[in-house]
Amino acid sequence: MSMKDVMVEFSKRGPKCRAETERASEHLPLGSPGGLGMFVLPHELFIERGEGCHVWDADGNKYLDFFCGDWTAALGYCNPGIMAAINEQVAKGTTFGLPSVDLGAELAGLINERLPSVEMVRFTSSGTEANQNSLRMARAFTGRKKSAKLSGGYHGSTDELTIQNAINKPDDIPAGMPIGAQESLVLLPPNDIAACKEIIEREKDDLAAVLFEPVMGVAGFIPNTHEYVQFMREITEKYGILLIFDEVVTIPMGVGGAQGYYGVKPDLTTMGKVMGGGTPLAAYGGRKDVMGMLDFRIKDPKLPAMMIGSTYGGMPLCLAAGIAAMKQLTPEVHAHLDKTGDYMRDGINTLGKKHNVPLQATGLSQFTGIHWTETEVVDYPSFLMSDRNVIRNIMYALALHGSIGTPMGQFLNTTPMTSADIDFFLNGLEQALRDIDLIS
Ligand SMILES: Cc1ncc(COP(=O)(O)O)c(C=O)c1O
Repeated sequence: MSMKDVMVEFSKRGPKCRAETERASEHLPLGSPGGLGMFVLPHELFIERGEGCHVWDADGNKYLDFFCGDWTAALGYCNPGIMAAINEQVAKGTTFGLPSVDLGAELAGLINERLPSVEMVRFTSSGTEANQNSLRMARAFTGRKKSAKLSGGYHGSTDELTIQNAINKPDDIPAGMPIGAQESLVLLPPNDIAACKEIIEREKDDLAAVLFEPVMGVAGFIPNTHEYVQFMREITEKYGILLIFDEVVTIPMGVGGAQGYYGVKPDLTTMGKVMGGGTPLAAYGGRKDVMGMLDFRIKDPKLPAMMIGSTYGGMPLCLAAGIAAMKQLTPEVHAHLDKTGDYMRDGINTLGKKHNVPLQATGLSQFTGIHWTETEVVDYPSFLMSDRNVIRNIMYALALHGSIGTPMGQFLNTTPMTSADIDFFLNGLEQALRDIDLIS
């Protein structure tokens, strides 16, 4: 079967999705109401409903879903606890602008229990907003103007943070940058301590913050080394630069998030996705002296007062869903996610070896990336060696065998998934490789 055959087969089983792609494309770029769209060729998958770890498209095709609401639904779709919390809150009102009793304080407390570095928190409705605001807080706190991120780090759609975000081509500067955006950004090579040291020491007087994902997400679910993460903590502390962990994706990586895994305490953390139980909730938080700038009652008089608004930031509906989600993420649940994740990565690597092809898996806990390269993928440069076209083709072919993830080959395991589901995925993957002649 060629890729063309896969597309033909895809089209055959998706008349409604195909028609909907056409209809939606008239007024929606990519036929998608938001975000980047997913499958777009030969048609988008329009999802009718989800339950547990499955979704059904408009044509009634069922998929084991590792895309899971763009990495938000780690507890599965229609999770009874989250649904009950949402329904209860809907009956009272979705948002009031004014705070609602208990919810904000309760979720902030739950976050602080899991991530002790987050002493105070401000909720937003997207990870983009959380990252943008955390950088502004850092600039205000330090009086410096620049921020650093890692090449390949994805932090949402704020101007300068879209540079080298693993979706764009590495050397492209996305169109539409305002004056100074590019100049305000310092790029750091992931996992290269010597190079980072040199750059940070050169820029230290202007650098307000280093923002990075301890485990790179969009860039293929690649964990940075413990040594590198520790180095980042030490060098930022030495030069009075704020260390910001982007844990928008990794907050459910064990009870303590990625910072618990690495045993490193950042100054600020941004969070989102799973934290909102499938609703638009994100947050930035951390040291009380920094976050205190948002509270004129406690702020250090030498620091500027900050006013950062967000109409839907921390709306009761989302907080209620978030509380229900975070409460369910117990150590036992994390252990289950770790176990199915390890099982999946082992299975993928075994498949690569069995057929002597350059298929490999990266990641940890419930986060898995697949790559197609002889080079061992350990960081962004080695991630760039992977053949993205092959990965995209594998993902299309895999969808025909009933499993979906991102077209870039990323997978998030969810709590309803069992080892039988992972076996289903692995069998589908093997057949997909065969379908497109990557194995015989
Ligand atoms: C690590 C990371 N940070 C931030 C964001 C942006 O979050 P949002 O899309 O909610 O703005 C994402 C989105 O995928 C992400 O992966």
